[in-house]
Amino acid sequence: MQTGIIGTGRIGSTLARILVAAGHQVVLANARGPQTLGPLVAELGRAASAAHPAEAAGQAELLVLMVPFDSVRGLLPQEAVRDTVLVDATNAFDGPGAPRDLGERGSSELVADWYPGARLVKSLNTMHFETLAVAGTAPERTGSERLAHFVAGDDVKAKEIVAGIITDLGFAPVDTGPLHSGGILQQPGGPLFNRPLTEAQALAWISH
Ligand SMILES: NC(=O)c1ccc[n+]([C@@H]2O[C@H](COP(=O)([O-])OP(=O)(O)OC[C@H]3O[C@@H](n4cnc5c(N)ncnc54)[C@H](OP(=O)(O)O)[C@@H]3O)[C@@H](O)[C@H]2O)c1
Repeated sequence: MQTGIIGTGRIGSTLARILVAAGHQVVLANARGPQTLGPLVAELGRAASAAHPAEAAGQAELLVLMVPFDSVRGLLPQEAVRDTVLVDATNAFDGPGAPRDLGERGSSELVADWYPGARLVKSLNTMHFETLAVAGTAPERTGSERLAHFVAGDDVKAKEIVAGIITDLGFAPVDTGPLHSGGILQQPGGPLFNRPLTEAQALAWISH
């Protein structure tokens, strides 16, 4: 499966490394252009390539947004992600540690407004990149001790596709519900943000 990753900074490059280690193919894009991604593509080998964002979206079966929240709007032509499973891993802050006040709306609902044809799933936004780098393959993390990655969205099949990738990476997918309510649980200021929970802890939390 070819996964596109837009944003190759701390979290995007980490996801690229663990996806390739798990046998996936990746196409990467950043702001400065594919020519700047030579070293990362060389490190990852034949499973990786670089492109401009809209090209990466066109090539990917699943696309992950790992750019600053304020870069999301207008980043891609809406047509480029029509019917694509689009994972929003961004977080909206107003300053260091200050969640942005979006009123009643979740940040991923705004992303869904900006890309109305995409099959939006909020996921991979809660875990720090240093944890993401190692926790999926840590030998002590098997079964219900696996760390949870959350999925929120209104397209159940799209969430299942994202859950499959989370499982491939050695984590446990945990469904938090629709994009509105689940997304708010996952975003900065919500109870699941930046809390490394095992699958068992996450399920206990969700069901209580
Ligand atoms: N850091 C984490 O542990 C973590 C964990 C979960 C989620 N997140 C979220 O993931 C996002 C990225 O965080 P980060 O820490 O990885 O940031 P970062 O290290 O600053 O990397 C940001 C990346 O986004 C790219 N970018 C910015 N504007 C772009 C545009 N218009 N088009 C294409 N690419 C663009 C940058 O491109 P250049 O390289 O060309 O500058 C860079 O590769 C944020 O929304 C953050 O909240 C971060």
